[in-house]
Amino acid sequence: MSIEAKITTVLITGASTGIGATYADRFAKRGHNLILVARNGARLEEVAARLRKETGVTVDIIVADLTKSADLAKVETRLRDDKDIGILLNNAGAAAHGGFETSTADAQENLIALNITALTRLSAAVIPRYLAQGQGAIVNIASVVALAPELQLGMYGATKAYVLHYSQALHVELGARGVYVQAVLPAATRTEIWERSGRDVNEINGVMEVGELVDAALVGFDRAEVITIPPLPDAAQWETFNTARQAMLPNLAQEHAAKRYQA
Ligand SMILES: NC(=O)c1ccc[n+]([C@@H]2O[C@H](COP(=O)([O-])OP(=O)(O)OC[C@H]3O[C@@H](n4cnc5c(N)ncnc54)[C@H](OP(=O)(O)O)[C@@H]3O)[C@@H](O)[C@H]2O)c1
Repeated sequence: MSIEAKITTVLITGASTGIGATYADRFAKRGHNLILVARNGARLEEVAARLRKETGVTVDIIVADLTKSADLAKVETRLRDDKDIGILLNNAGAAAHGGFETSTADAQENLIALNITALTRLSAAVIPRYLAQGQGAIVNIASVVALAPELQLGMYGATKAYVLHYSQALHVELGARGVYVQAVLPAATRTEIWERSGRDVNEINGVMEVGELVDAALVGFDRAEVITIPPLPDAAQWETFNTARQAMLPNLAQEHAAKRYQA
């Protein structure tokens, strides 16, 4: 049975606006009950009220700052205890303008807390239950910048590279035991993230509308893809890249250093 065929509750982080709120709309229209998480309770309640009215699904909200461990614990508890949650959508994330030179250690730590620690802890909270139930899905919103250190996006790119690797590793370990893991790699998408990180989205070329991004990501979800890159025209380019990486693996365990390093 596909994930979609089972109408389970979806817990979405960062659901007060942008990509998360759009996923909430799409999953509600597919008949899923929702649990929406973000810091701004009024905005969450606005999204929830509209979706309850338009679709009739049950929508709960959890007001939480996922960089704060007490708030994170509330969401972890719900993920552990609520057996109806069958899809965890780790979407909450922030960008930071500029590279390593201009960002402070505190700003970098904050980005790690949201983009890495929260996503990891929430997944860890749900995995034992998914394994016990023999099913469940985790969708992690990464970014194409995970593949592009050349863009000089500092910690933001590095956090998204973590999300990509983490999702692939989860799939390798848990995929055969009923846990579906998808990493979605959007490119520039028209949301508030740009303004929040001090950039004008209108200065960027090739910006996707958020509805198109989420609908494409859901096509990948319905196909049970592990990696979904909505803007990439030729999927073979990703396959070639991934195959080249895998071809290296058997050569990496050696008793001796490669010839070029032998003094
Ligand atoms: N837009 C793009 O161009 C783009 C491209 C690639 C990847 N992405 C990724 O897509 C995801 C969603 O981004 P978006 O563009 O939709 O951004 P967005 O419009 O800024 O929305 C971010 C969401 O996360 C929530 N959030 C932010 N900080 C939070 C915190 N500390 N605790 C809990 N919730 C928090 C925000 O709500 P509150 O303010 O109410 O907390 C909001 O609901 C992110 O992971 C982002 O990195 C975006």
